[in-house]
Amino acid sequence: MARWRPDIAEREATPEALYLRRREFLALGAAGAVGLLLPRGARAGEPTGAALQVARKVDQAGGESPTPWDSVTGYNNFYELGTSKEDPSRNAGSLRPRPWTVTIAGEVKKPQTLDVDALARMFPLEERVYRMRCVEAWSMVIPWVGFPLADLVRRLEPTSRAKYVAFQTLLDRDQLPGQRRPVLPWPYVEALRIDEATHPLTLLAVGLYGRALPGQNGAPLRLVVPWKYGFKGAKSIVRITFLADRPHTTWNDAAPDEYGFYANVNPDVDHPRWSQARERRIGEFFRRKTLPFNGYAAEVASLYAGLDLRKNY
Ligand code: MTE
Repeated sequence: MARWRPDIAEREATPEALYLRRREFLALGAAGAVGLLLPRGARAGEPTGAALQVARKVDQAGGESPTPWDSVTGYNNFYELGTSKEDPSRNAGSLRPRPWTVTIAGEVKKPQTLDVDALARMFPLEERVYRMRCVEAWSMVIPWVGFPLADLVRRLEPTSRAKYVAFQTLLDRDQLPGQRRPVLPWPYVEALRIDEATHPLTLLAVGLYGRALPGQNGAPLRLVVPWKYGFKGAKSIVRITFLADRPHTTWNDAAPDEYGFYANVNPDVDHPRWSQARERRIGEFFRRKTLPFNGYAAEVASLYAGLDLRKNY
C-alpha cells in the first residue's frame, strides 16, 4: 500500500493467495505425515499461544468459516516488523508483549496507566467473528477475542470536549526494528471519531482463535473496526488519547490522496492505483464483490448520514 512500493498492485494478490493455499495444502500433508509424532496442539495449522477465557461467542460474519490460523497469523501487515506479508510472523520474536502498559490520556476524567492484563480483566472477553477487508483488496474472516471499546470509554468518562480517540503503537527500535527505517512516520497512529469508537462493533482485541494475540497480529492489544479498511486497526497499542480536534494519522499523513481519515470500506470509491469494487478472500480463487461498509452498512451507515463519502473517503 505504500508509495515507495508502487509495484504492490492488486494483481499481486493472486500469486500470494495461491501461495497460501499451497502452504495450507503442504501443512495439511505434513500434519498428516507427522501428526502423531507432534504434541497435541503443535500440529501445523492449529492455534497456539495462551488460551483465553471467553464469556460469549458472537458470529458477525454471516456464518462464514474463519480464515485458517496459518493465514491469519502468517500473512500480515505490520511494517514495524517488515514490509512483506511474511516478515511480521518471521520477526515477531523481537516484540515483548509482557509486561505492557497502556496510558490513557487527554480529555478524560480518569487519565491513568494500566497493565494490559489488568485492563483485559476489567471486562468479560467475547469472541467476535468479523469480516476484515484490507485496503489492498484482500480480506479474511477472523475470530477475534476482545471487548467493546465502548465499555472502556464509559469507565474512563471522557469530558464533553472529547470528539476523537487516537491509538498509538509502541515506539521501540529494538522490539520493532522496522522503525529503524523511515518507511512511515513512527510511531504508527490511528484515530476514530468518538461515535465510531463507541459503536458496539468496535473492539479492543487481545486475542484470536481463543488464544492471546501473536506478535504479528498486534500483541498484546490492538484495535478492530470491521467496517473500515484494515489500516485503521492500530497494533500493539501503548497509548489511547481522547482529543477535542482530529489528530494526524499515519497513512493519511503519508499519502493523503490514497488513504483518507475515514477509510470506510467503499466499493464505489477506488484507490487511485486500483479498484476497490472487488476483493480476494484469502484462501479463495475467485474474487467477490466488496460490500459497502464491508457488509456492516445496516449497523453503521447512520453514523455518516449527511456526509459525502466520496470526499470523506
Ligand atoms: N498497525 C501498525 N502498528 N503497523 C502496521 O503496519 N498495518 C495495518 C493494521 N495495523 C499496521 C497496523 C494494516 S494495513 C492492516 S491490513 C492490518 O493491520 C493487518 O492486520 P493483521 O495482520 O492482523 O491481519
